[in-house]
Amino acid sequence: MARPRVLSGIQPTADSFHLGNYLGAVRQYVALQDTHEAFYFIADLHALTVAPKPEELRRRTRVAAAQLFAAGLDPERAAVFVQSQVREHSELAWYLICQTGMGEAGRMTQFKDKAAKYGEGAASVGLFTYPILQAADILIYQTDQVPVGGDQKQHLELSRDLAQRFNSRYGPTFKLPNPYILKEVEKITDLQDPSAKMSKSSSSPQGIIDVLEEPGRLRKKIMRAVTDTGSEVVADEANKPGVTNLLRIHSALSGVSIADLEARFAGQGYGAFKKEVAEVVVDTFAPIRERTEKLLADEAELDRMLAAGADRARAVARETMAQVRDRLGLLP
Ligand code: AMP
Ligand code: TRP
Repeated sequence: MARPRVLSGIQPTADSFHLGNYLGAVRQYVALQDTHEAFYFIADLHALTVAPKPEELRRRTRVAAAQLFAAGLDPERAAVFVQSQVREHSELAWYLICQTGMGEAGRMTQFKDKAAKYGEGAASVGLFTYPILQAADILIYQTDQVPVGGDQKQHLELSRDLAQRFNSRYGPTFKLPNPYILKEVEKITDLQDPSAKMSKSSSSPQGIIDVLEEPGRLRKKIMRAVTDTGSEVVADEANKPGVTNLLRIHSALSGVSIADLEARFAGQGYGAFKKEVAEVVVDTFAPIRERTEKLLADEAELDRMLAAGADRARAVARETMAQVRDRLGLLP
């Protein structure tokens, strides 16, 4: 029997992924390539919604791709590609835009948050249709599972709604995708503000940990992470959100349960605990950083790997699109 399909995308909007991206998404990409037919892409079309500088977008797209391979994606097992190189994504996005209600799109909380930052009316229409392009990304591959962080739940619901609507209007065409969200890591929080999610757009430099960060800086940031009143290392979301976040990070990376960590650090205070969290993070990120640098040193080879990934993705996307066009009544 064919393996179920997994697909996800990540935007090239920073010079490095951060710890939230890694734990909330990228690690799951790597794990699922063993059991699923895997498609992962750099969402450069989504990045265009905020009009990045062309040189920056080019560089960040390669850095993002290199990090995905460095984190463990295997080009033999997973199709890793750049979204804009499979033109069918843009085409399906238009068809789905025509199936989406204005009110429905206007309810997307991520759009409302981002639009609020730009001020009344200044956000691009692309930002408004962003979740519909995301639905196209997902539906075009007849995806079963979509590994993402918790902030993408509403977008995944829209993808399902659009699939269902299209299927009932035009006949069965799309599979309904399921979110794949791991509760323990769905929201890694800002080191300086444990009530907010770690985010490249809103976290301060001290609040965010980059995968490609230099180990010395990384240790310093973790040692300076906001902890809570008291001195006990115990998970308590309501009263100790900072310590709880660090416990989640340690546990996810080391594989040691939170209960075991609490027992191990009983009576030791925050300092010893943070030191170990820093080591666990450095041990994970240092090799990824090294491999990323190696991959970036040979751009031609990296571009070739991505082109091969796009070829594999396109073969699947074309099949879906032929059916979609026919269902809609477009001439062949
Ligand atoms: P983005 O950088 O917005 O393209 O996000 C890439 C992936 O990382 C998405 O699946 C997000 O849901 C996930 N993600 C982003 N920030 C966090 C966070 N702080 N905690 C957990 N997952 C996150
Ligand atoms: N919107 C996602 C994010 O910011 C990125 C993304 C684009 C995506 N297309 C996707 C995620 C398709 C999953 C599936 O995190």
